[in-house]
Amino acid sequence: MKKIINKGFSLSLSPSGSGIKPGARFDSSISVRSSTTSTATSTASAAETNMNSPCREKLFVEHCKGVNGLEKVVLREVRGCSAEIYLYGGQVISWKNEYGEELLFLSSKATFTHPKPIRGGIPICFPQFANHGSLEKHGFARSRVWSIDPDPPPFSANSSSQACVDLILKHSEEEVKIWPHRYEFRLRITLGPGGDLMLTSRIRNTNTDGKSFAFTFAYHTYFAVSDISEVRVEGLETLDYLDNLKDKERFTEQGDAITFESEVDKVYLSTPTKIAILDHERKRTFVLRKDGLPDAVVWNPWDKKAKAMADFGDDEYKHMLCVEAACVEKPIILKPGEEWRGRQEISAVPSSYCSGQLDPKKVFQSD
Ligand code: BG6
Repeated sequence: MKKIINKGFSLSLSPSGSGIKPGARFDSSISVRSSTTSTATSTASAAETNMNSPCREKLFVEHCKGVNGLEKVVLREVRGCSAEIYLYGGQVISWKNEYGEELLFLSSKATFTHPKPIRGGIPICFPQFANHGSLEKHGFARSRVWSIDPDPPPFSANSSSQACVDLILKHSEEEVKIWPHRYEFRLRITLGPGGDLMLTSRIRNTNTDGKSFAFTFAYHTYFAVSDISEVRVEGLETLDYLDNLKDKERFTEQGDAITFESEVDKVYLSTPTKIAILDHERKRTFVLRKDGLPDAVVWNPWDKKAKAMADFGDDEYKHMLCVEAACVEKPIILKPGEEWRGRQEISAVPSSYCSGQLDPKKVFQSD
């Protein structure tokens, strides 16, 4: 019998069986396979009913209300790591390690009000990155309300020991007026057993008029850092980039790892699948792995732009760095019926930072 200790979070199935919804609270110690109390019985049957779902650890998934009554899903992992995802934007807004330390930046001035996107976490930029096109900046997905996907098609990846949630976004009739295409965007967010956070996007062209569509994309990840001047990024040195601060002109990065002493807004091209963000002061390294996303955006607004943003604190630029797995330079083109996949996985590991060198065995030679 598998025993899960679960500190009072809630789960139930909706009457239609269409997935989880805000529900009753349960005892702090419950059994998945069998039960002795009536509360535990209802919990167990919810879990059993969902055992065919790819996200097997439903008991580590809570669907509840967050800021401004917006719906959110909380994922928890046995050691205490967690992630919070808002249906508004399909956006991860929190990712914590087993000590409860927040690993993502969320502005103290973030608004949780439609149509403004939430400043921080991991906004999804689709179908347009930034102003690389005629749509609103970063596209509309980050300010749409996503749904929990009741019936996600199978994934090849094994999710059996992970807490995850499947979200879906489809075109709306209103949206078709500004972007004349039909699509299904499935987003699976998984909190792995070690606390790693994985986001997998599957975007399908469901046009019935025979038309292809093109899009650009980014996981706009805001990493929380101790002090931006103590941070370095490894894996992008010597690469070509488009500088958004210089009219998207193309340059080649010089020197060693990337450090920060002023505003930066660059799209690195043809980047490796692994990038490391070292926070020297906190002795923490974020490792970003990606698949299907050739580019990587690095952004920090610095002081002047920070002051100009209403939903960003004046000094908060010191405590964040965006490194975004992206596809910007060459848009993805999908014919009707075709599907694209793009994946980002982030983990936070203690740095063995010595004389300015990242231990390469830890980051670049590991899987
Ligand atoms: C980055 C872009 O990804 O996002 C920047 O490269 C942009 O140009 C930044 O300023 C923030 O965008 P927004 O729309 O969230 O303020």
